Order: sequence, then C-alpha cells, then structure tokens
Amino acid sequence: MARSRSSKARLSMALAACGLLSSGTWQAAAFPTWLKHDSEEQASITALSTAQIDAFRPYTHYASAGYCSPASTLAWDCGRNCRANPSFKPVASGGDGESTQFWYVGFDPRLKEVIVSHQGTDTSKLFPIMTDGDILHVPLDEKLFPGVDRRVVVHGGFAATQSRSAPGVLAAVQKAIAKYKTKKVTVTGHSLGAAIGLLDAIFLPLHIPGITTRFVGYGLPRVGNMHFADYVDEQQRATLSVTRINNRKDIVPILPGRFLGFHHPSGEVHIDEAGVWLACPGQDNASAKCTVGDVRNIFVGNGTDHNGPYGGVKMGCSSS
Ligand SMILES: *[C@@H]1O[C@H](CO)[C@@H](O)[C@H](O)[C@H]1NC(C)=O
Ligand SMILES: *[C@@H]1O[C@H](CO)[C@@H](O)[C@H](O)[C@H]1NC(C)=O
Repeated sequence: MARSRSSKARLSMALAACGLLSSGTWQAAAFPTWLKHDSEEQASITALSTAQIDAFRPYTHYASAGYCSPASTLAWDCGRNCRANPSFKPVASGGDGESTQFWYVGFDPRLKEVIVSHQGTDTSKLFPIMTDGDILHVPLDEKLFPGVDRRVVVHGGFAATQSRSAPGVLAAVQKAIAKYKTKKVTVTGHSLGAAIGLLDAIFLPLHIPGITTRFVGYGLPRVGNMHFADYVDEQQRATLSVTRINNRKDIVPILPGRFLGFHHPSGEVHIDEAGVWLACPGQDNASAKCTVGDVRNIFVGNGTDHNGPYGGVKMGCSSS
C-alpha cells in the first residue's frame, strides 16, 4: 500500500532526524538530574490497586472522547465514550481537527470537577510535528504564560497548537467554574492531546487564580526541557497533580529524545506487559519497569501500544 509505505518512510526520516536510529547516541544520552521531591514522594515503584486503576476510567473515556467532533461532544452524544460518563454537562467545544485539535469543556457532577479534553492524533501525523527541527525549542508565550521563567522552553509545535485553542478553553473553563461552583479542573488527553493538555494545566491557573488543576494524560510525548519539567513539578508541590499513563512499549513517551534536551516531569504510571499499572517516581525514571528503561529505543518499542488499551479503553472516537 502506497499510503503505508509513505508514512513508514516519513517515520524513519523523522526518527533519523531525532537521532533515534543511532543507538549509540541514545545510550550516550545524559542521565537526568534527579529532582528532589517532598517527603510524600514515593521512594519505590509501586503497583496501583484495582480501585486506583478504576478511578482513572472516567478520565480515560474523557480523553478518548476528545477525538469526537465538537458537535457530538457539545451534545454529549458521541457513542461509548460519552455513555461511559452519562451525567457529564458539556459547556463548550471547538477545534477543526486540522490546525486546531478538537477540544471540549464541561462539568462532571459525580467528580465535581470541570473537565477539559483535547483530541490527539495518529503517530503518522505526530512524528513529523515532534521532529520538525525548526520548532523544537521555543519559550512559552508571555501573554499566555505570564511570569514563567524564560528558561522554560517547550516544543514549538505543541505550543502553537495549544495557543490556538487556549482562548476558547479559558473562556469555557471560566464559564463552567462560575456555573458549577467548583475550583477543580482536570485536563485530559491522549498523544498530541496530552501534550496540549499538559500546557493547559499550567496555563489555566495563571489566568484563574485559586483553582487546583489535575492532568491525566495518556501516551504523552516529552513537551519541554528540564526547566519545563522542573516548573511542572514545582506546581505539583502546590496546586497541580500530574499523572501520565504510558502503555507497555509505546514509543511516543520517549520522544523527542532526552539528548535533544527534552525531559518529562514526575507522575508516570507505566502499564507493563502483564497489564500491571506501576507508579514510577521521579522524572523519566530509567528503571526497566518504567517507560524509559523498558522502551530503551524505538526498536524495542511497539507503535500499536500507543492507542492502548488503557484499562480496557482504546483511544479514538467510536460513534457506536
Ligand atoms: C526510579 O525509581 C526508583 C525506585 O525504584 C527510585 O529509587 C529512583 O530514584 C527513581 N529514579 C529516578 C530517576 O527518578
Ligand atoms: C505489538 O503490540 C500488539 C498489541 O499489544 C501485539 O499484538 C503485537 O504482537 C506487538 N508487536 C510486536 C512486534 O511485538
């Protein structure tokens, strides 16, 4: 098939640009400085209980529903992912699925939280964005992220995409907070949607004082540099909570590479081959039980794992 050949060619070009086809470069990647956390930070890799895993399920469906059209999420009539959270009250939705990923905002009365979700993309579209050398490192936009240290640098492709939905998402979250009288906002998304979501999770509190934000992302690529990861973790010690759930041998969470200066914040949960959910302490934990150690390079990675299943839920809109 011509189509799959061309996307394969694009993928290997992109990975070559990333330096990932050279295992020597990969192994030479500098081991990241370990950021010290508060005493509440766990010291070991622990398995999540069934109850803890089940508690993520609503967010998994919210992330998956991010792939559905804005009209269907605004009507909360998007098939299985909408039915999984039947009491959800949509507030606004947007995006065109081209330059701006779909998004929606609403309120979950059971969780008593505002939910923000962003559409992801398939890996054939994600790799070219991630590896476009011209836009790898940009400072955060000063208007969207006022007061953030200028050394905080993020992936320009992710930042540009986030900036296009930011005004609409902010207005919708403000509206939802006023209407439903809550100060809790959870941002979710898969893949590119997770990258946008993590930026939203630090963007929203800069404009809505007093909220607590939670980020639950699936198959999150690396979004920014070490200063970015440290900034996110600094917020995690205050009003932000980050969980990034990585499935088995998904290669997206190891991209863009650490040797390009990219770095993950704390909060990884790695689903291993046996389906056990492991909470991995620290930023980019190199243990073989966590993604960086388990998916050492793209050759041991498996692209199929990117879409899940995450606790039985495959990412993507299904209208049935
Ligand atoms: C990885 O997890 C182990 C616990 O098994 C912990 O001792 C170590 O500090 C962590 N490493 C990093 C880089 O976070
Ligand atoms: C990739 O993962 C899928 C789903 O887990 C599995 O069916 C397939 O055999 C894996 N491929 C390789 C090459 O390991």
